[in-house]
Order: sequence, then C-alpha cells, then structure tokens
Amino acid sequence: MVHLGSQITDMGAYHLVLDELIKLAADADKIGFDVKEINMGGGCGISYLGKEEWNRIKRKIADTRDATWANDLIGYNCNNEWVSEELYCPFTPDTFIQKLFNDTYTANRTFKERLEELGVPKIVVEPGRSLVGNAQVTLVRVGHVGTTPSGQNIVHVDAGVNHHSQNIIVPEQLHRMEIANDIDTAAGFETFIAGNLCYTGDLLCRIKNMLNSKPKRGDYIIIYDTGAYSDFFASNTNSFPRPAKVMVSKTGKDRVLVKRESLFDVFHRDVDWKKRNK
Ligand SMILES: Cc1ncc(COP(=O)(O)O)c(C=O)c1O
Repeated sequence: MVHLGSQITDMGAYHLVLDELIKLAADADKIGFDVKEINMGGGCGISYLGKEEWNRIKRKIADTRDATWANDLIGYNCNNEWVSEELYCPFTPDTFIQKLFNDTYTANRTFKERLEELGVPKIVVEPGRSLVGNAQVTLVRVGHVGTTPSGQNIVHVDAGVNHHSQNIIVPEQLHRMEIANDIDTAAGFETFIAGNLCYTGDLLCRIKNMLNSKPKRGDYIIIYDTGAYSDFFASNTNSFPRPAKVMVSKTGKDRVLVKRESLFDVFHRDVDWKKRNK
C-alpha cells in the first residue's frame, strides 16, 4: 500500500509507483508470497482553474509579485521553477483510471497487461478530493471593501481560515470566486480576500483573486470547488460558530446536512465552576 500525497496532477508519479509495486509484488511472488491486493492510496488531483488561467496566474506571480500578499514569490524555488501545488489537473478521475491501466511504461507493455501477468491482484484506489472537491461551493458575505496601506484592494468576508481551512494546508490555494448576483464579467475587480479573524494570516489565499466586479457590503461571494478539505481543520477561532452545510438536489430541493452552530454550541463545554464549588 502506498499513498503518494494529495492533489497529484502528474500521471508520471503514479506510473512510477505502480511500476515499483508491480516489481515488488513479482519479487514477493518468487519467494512464495502471493500478493492479492495493491493499494494505490489517494491523491488524484482536480482542476480549480482552467489551464490558461492557471498558467497566467503563475506567470504573473513570477513577473510582478504584487499578485501575492506581501509581494512574496510564493510557489517558486530559487531557480524560478514552480514547485508548489498545481491547481489545474490534466486528467479527470475517469481518464485517470484509463491512463493508469492503459498507458505503456516498461517494455511497451501496459500496466493492465503487467497486472494480468501477476495474476490480476485487486487494485484499490482511495480517491478523496477528486470525488468530492467540485461537489461543494461555499457562500461568504462581504463585510467591508477597502484598501491596504500599500494600495491593494482587500475584501473582508465572514468566513476566514477558521471555516475555510484549505488555506492552512496550501497557503497559495486559489479558488475560482464570483459575486453571487452579478453576472457582469466585463468589469473585473482584482483583490485579496480576508476573513474576519484578529490576525493578518486570515487570508482566503495569498494570491489575488479576480472577481467579476467590485463587491459591496452584504454581497455574497461564491467560492467554488470547496468540497474537499474545506472544513478539514475548521475551528471556533475567536469563538465564531461554524456554518451549516446544505445539500441541493438537481431539481433544486434542499436539505440541511450539518446544522449551523449556535453560540450555545460554542460555549456549552464551559464549566460553571462557581456552581460546582458549592
Ligand atoms: C491514506 C490516504 N488515502 C487517501 C487519501 C485521500 O487523498 P486525496 O483526497 O488527495 O485523494 C488520504 C489523504 O491524505 C490518505 O492519507
């Protein structure tokens, strides 16, 4: 069993590891150990942005740096090579499986053929993000639109890293966002987006986002593809209650899946020590 990591967008990584696992299983077979199952773990990536858009953003970070918070050259190493997470993935979960088995790797044989030679062990994959990532959107409400002392636009919304903790795993994570009621894509508004916690690290991402227009207080912003790892580390930082989750069916019916927390939920574990001491 292996697990290579998460948001892997390079098919070559899976081919490399499957090749090693097949060799290991063949060696094990020679000494009489029959491998019945090969588990590839998870990690199949998803596209948070289109290919062109993502490449444009990466170029912009390298060229201007003011695309990032504090003008950092995030995501690049000292040789100017992109070494961080890719937010565009060239395959989908379906084509991932096809490519995994049907691509040739060693001696012009496909992995499918090589597995058949091994006696067809069961192949297990543990996809997480690729199944659920694009099944969820997060709605946040704008509280304030302003500028930083260095003249950058900044929009404050009512959900920061406490409710959208993907930021904690990958600080440069960038989601496609748009203003809910506004379909005018002509006038874009480039801005950083921050939550409402009490520290500067509470940014939804360290890369500037392009919104379809300048938001106003009270507007809703839709954050796309938040189905995986969005509330993985969700917390009650600053004693904010956590939000609800609502399932919406294709026919528009909705059903609450996770209840919105109340202030009682946030504080109910506090012990009334005066009462206990009586
Ligand atoms: C053992 C194992 N399998 C599967 C997964 C799912 O990974 P992903 O969501 O990247 O597909 C994880 C997450 O890290 C994991 O640790």
